[in-house]
Amino acid sequence: MELTYRKYLKIDELLSLQQPLSDGPEHDETLFIMIHQVYELWFKQILHELRRLSELFAGGETAKVLHTLNRILAIWRTMVQQIDVLETMTPLSFVSFRSRLESASGFQSYQFRLMEIMLGHRNKTRIDKSPFIDETRRILDAAMAEPSLYDDFLCFIAAKGYPLESDILERDLSLPNIEDARVRKNLVKIYREDPVLTQVCERLVDLDEGLQEWRYRHVKMVQRTIGTKMGTGGSSGAEYLTKTLFKPLFPDLWTIRVEF
Ligand code: HEM
Repeated sequence: MELTYRKYLKIDELLSLQQPLSDGPEHDETLFIMIHQVYELWFKQILHELRRLSELFAGGETAKVLHTLNRILAIWRTMVQQIDVLETMTPLSFVSFRSRLESASGFQSYQFRLMEIMLGHRNKTRIDKSPFIDETRRILDAAMAEPSLYDDFLCFIAAKGYPLESDILERDLSLPNIEDARVRKNLVKIYREDPVLTQVCERLVDLDEGLQEWRYRHVKMVQRTIGTKMGTGGSSGAEYLTKTLFKPLFPDLWTIRVEF
């Protein structure tokens, strides 16, 4: 039989996946489900692009690195903007179905955690305390044993003539991204003499800023929707989320700004 739009994209399956639990059901529960599903799809695409980016860094393919980073950034901007849609939901409307979520929470988004780990936000204690078990836990542990995007970037610049010591390139991967004066010296050199590699650095800063922007918009959305109430995942809610703000992914790329 001829392939159709409906078959190729599995539209029937896709449209059967939004199943509200509230009685009625409450009007806004559909939006709440759908927006989370859309986010999970974007997370999936970003993970897909991050794997490619790692290969491109290893191959020293600067033009393609920039292209892929630009794509990730375009998705990221879309993700930040999408918060506007969910912010049209009032506190009253959310409370009408919130109890149906029980202990389900964004805390349990393993794709979000995987993205954080791949980008270099690594905290073993946090993963140990997380709700992830079995297959998802195995995926997160495996990612913690792999170089982060920043490690790939450091190998990339080393291969481009900005040599880095072996203790930097072979660091303990379970720790967050490295901060090191020897790396900063090379980064400053790049900014002074290599405009193309500078673009790669700046796109990484865009990504870092983008993740922080998403966190900020998410906290504000939480504050306007549930105020100071606890999260369904058991945290203190906005108070906990506020503590995750302003934590850079690539600290050295920010620290060097005073050098110019
Ligand atoms: C009305 C909308 C939302 C509210 C009230 C809300 C509330 C919260 C709260 C209170 C937390 C802290 C954990 C907890 O105790 O539950 C949290 C975490 C989280 N939420 Fe949301 N959220 C909303 C929408 C979203 C959306 C649309 C996404 C997109 C996937 C999302 C993703 C996350 C993630 C990834 C975390 C973990 C953040 C971290 O630990 O750094 N949330 N959310």
